Amino acid sequence: MDAPGFAWPEGGNTRVPYRVYTDAENHEREKQRIFAGPSWGFLCASAEIPNAGDYKTTFLGEVPIVVVRRRDGGVNALVNRCTHRGSLVALKSQGNTGNSLTCVYHSWAFDLDGNLTGIPFRRGLEGKGGMPAEFDLKQHGLKRLRVGEVCGLVFGTLAADAPPLEEHIGPLIGDRLARVLGGRKLKVLGTASQYLHNNWKLYVENVKDTYHASLLHTFFSTFKILRLTAGGGIHVSEQGGNHASYSLNKQDKDKGEYDGLRSAKDDFRLKDASIFEEKDEFGDGITVQLLSVFPNFILQQVHNCLALRQVLPKGVNETELLWTYIGFEDDDAAMQRLRLKQANLVGPAGYVSMEDGCVGGFVQRAIVGSEADDSVIEMGGASHASTDSRVSEASVRGFWQQYRTQMGFAGA
Ligand code: FES
Ligand SMILES: [Fe+2]
Repeated sequence: MDAPGFAWPEGGNTRVPYRVYTDAENHEREKQRIFAGPSWGFLCASAEIPNAGDYKTTFLGEVPIVVVRRRDGGVNALVNRCTHRGSLVALKSQGNTGNSLTCVYHSWAFDLDGNLTGIPFRRGLEGKGGMPAEFDLKQHGLKRLRVGEVCGLVFGTLAADAPPLEEHIGPLIGDRLARVLGGRKLKVLGTASQYLHNNWKLYVENVKDTYHASLLHTFFSTFKILRLTAGGGIHVSEQGGNHASYSLNKQDKDKGEYDGLRSAKDDFRLKDASIFEEKDEFGDGITVQLLSVFPNFILQQVHNCLALRQVLPKGVNETELLWTYIGFEDDDAAMQRLRLKQANLVGPAGYVSMEDGCVGGFVQRAIVGSEADDSVIEMGGASHASTDSRVSEASVRGFWQQYRTQMGFAGA
């Protein structure tokens, strides 16, 4: 696979060929050039594995990974595939593994650095069988990832040529990440998972496309909650793949009954509007910030509901979306309650985000037979530069810029 199996259409980042969502060969190329390429994948929050021996299993793209806390406090990320005959080593989603990871199949044992330390029946039984005397344990450790940590988030990469994590995120988006997570000790409040019947990139595009929110999400429009006329904008990293969109969405709350939540069409209203009580906890009036790090990590601030999202490909047509709802160790009980209440807005069945879970499937179903055609991404022009308008697809174009570069499409 020296070159992509098809050419990118004319029009640069304003046109995306539908076959990128369906082509099996392209999907294989993504495994090599995107997920095993010079990018970083989010693995877990450091707070999820606080003690030595704590582990969490996850994926870098489709490659199973186990992340484990070492005795010295550092974090290792290892490919969760036994070097004997390929079984998963860690089976549960999380737990404590003591000083070693032992494969269930034939009990090959690895230390927390991934070194192979023990093979049952290595010398055989009664002088018969066993491994060859020259078998070198050192050659058969679990594959280890490079690991980086920023703001309590652990990322990993399989690529020796990946830039340092901080460089991959960049100062612009790094600053937006620190705005939410900087200087505080993160606390996991809960998790959710959902399957999306579409290619992973359709969900990433959805997150980056801010102008669909007031149109697709009828909860917003019904109760006049989100207006694109309110201030906001989109930051896009230089290479294009990372973004942070934000809205300064002031509500008209001076009427005791929260009149903004009366529906536009019929005269019904939210009986309990307390879900929209919010605290300006970051002191800048930004009520919603959605941030992404190429290729598949998302940090969400929707009012006071914070979540980490991982977009995991499961073959070319299916995606698992993992949500980790977070707060901070220093949250008081009222703040934690508020975060959990607002979690009803976003998630697999969120008042707002449930449409995002199916719209990618609408695309996936509609493009069958039209793989030679292209989507049109011209809202806000052709560039992927940061903008102070949210009526723009700049960050979607940015994603495709970095994608095309990393995939080696000519002209990127
Ligand atoms: S596959 Fe792991 S010990 Fe055999
Ligand atoms: Fe959405």
